[in-house]
Amino acid sequence: MRIQEKIDQYRTEVEQWKPTSMQEVEAFRLRFLVAKGLIKNLFEEFKTVSVEEKRMLGKVLNEFKQFTESRFATMKEKFSAAQPTVKRAVEDLTLPGPGFNAGAHHPLSIVRKEIVEIFKKLGFIVAEGPEIEDDWHNFTALNFPEEHPARDMQDTFFIRKGAGNDIALRTHTSSVQVRMMEQGKPPFRAIMPGRVYRNEAISARAHCFFHQVEGLYIDEGVSFADLKQTLYHFVQELYGAGTQVRFRPSYFPFTEPSAEMDISCTICKGAGCNMCKYTGWVEILGCGMVDPNVLENSGIDAKKYTGFAFGMGIERITNLKYEIKDLRLFSENDIRFLQQFETEVI
Ligand code: PHE
Repeated sequence: MRIQEKIDQYRTEVEQWKPTSMQEVEAFRLRFLVAKGLIKNLFEEFKTVSVEEKRMLGKVLNEFKQFTESRFATMKEKFSAAQPTVKRAVEDLTLPGPGFNAGAHHPLSIVRKEIVEIFKKLGFIVAEGPEIEDDWHNFTALNFPEEHPARDMQDTFFIRKGAGNDIALRTHTSSVQVRMMEQGKPPFRAIMPGRVYRNEAISARAHCFFHQVEGLYIDEGVSFADLKQTLYHFVQELYGAGTQVRFRPSYFPFTEPSAEMDISCTICKGAGCNMCKYTGWVEILGCGMVDPNVLENSGIDAKKYTGFAFGMGIERITNLKYEIKDLRLFSENDIRFLQQFETEVI
């Protein structure tokens, strides 16, 4: 077929192309306008004809190309207009407008609040202490002997060293226990959430700051059984009934006896996974009976009062809930991460 005949035939086709959907518009483009489409073919063929024919056909061919392109533009416009993204007509001006998105709660705040709520129901009050702490409250009163390797358990950021009372960023919230006991009279039943600092290289699994919730219960006749029952109840509330717990003997200078508490892995339910390193158990906190030395250091009569303390990392608890693999996400403030949690609309 000669070029002129083809043009005539295609023109009829273009004129009759009445798309009813965006897909048909796209089919039009694929047939006529792409690099391997019919118009491109015509131009290829055009190269092979004689000079006289070229003179004649050149104009016709260009005109047909423009015609096809303008048809395509019209069709496209029609169909993109047919899919409005916003409903335009406002029928009832008294309807309330869309809410204003005030952002999302940070996952650590969500979990901290949950922990606080559970203990509040058990009669615990919430207390706080300073993040810049002295040696006495962070170490010495908590029975860390001077020059004792126990101090190396926690790599400390010192602000000022010497003169008998170093100043540092607190390495744990246990310092707040001491402040509380120094300032008040038993019984004490409190939880103390807050940020703590350790001199660690930042990686997916470690950070130079993180968050803890400390717990303290001091009264006459408080026993290890109370400790176990309180923490058992806490775990059932936070992770659901049926979550198992186990206590392993451990060591902290400020508690005697001391233990670490594991719960059955919330991710695999004990079957074994990455999170629990295929043991079925994950450690969530340290705890123990407050050492009599700590009570005496804080001005409490250790013959009359006993009690327990515990401390847990909020990041750890949050990881088990949301499976966040990289600790750095908590402090990078990446909006794509933060928006995935409970959002607030006002
Ligand atoms: N302070 C301990 C830690 O940071 C946790 C703990 C608190 C252990 C209270 C026992 C009692 O690891």
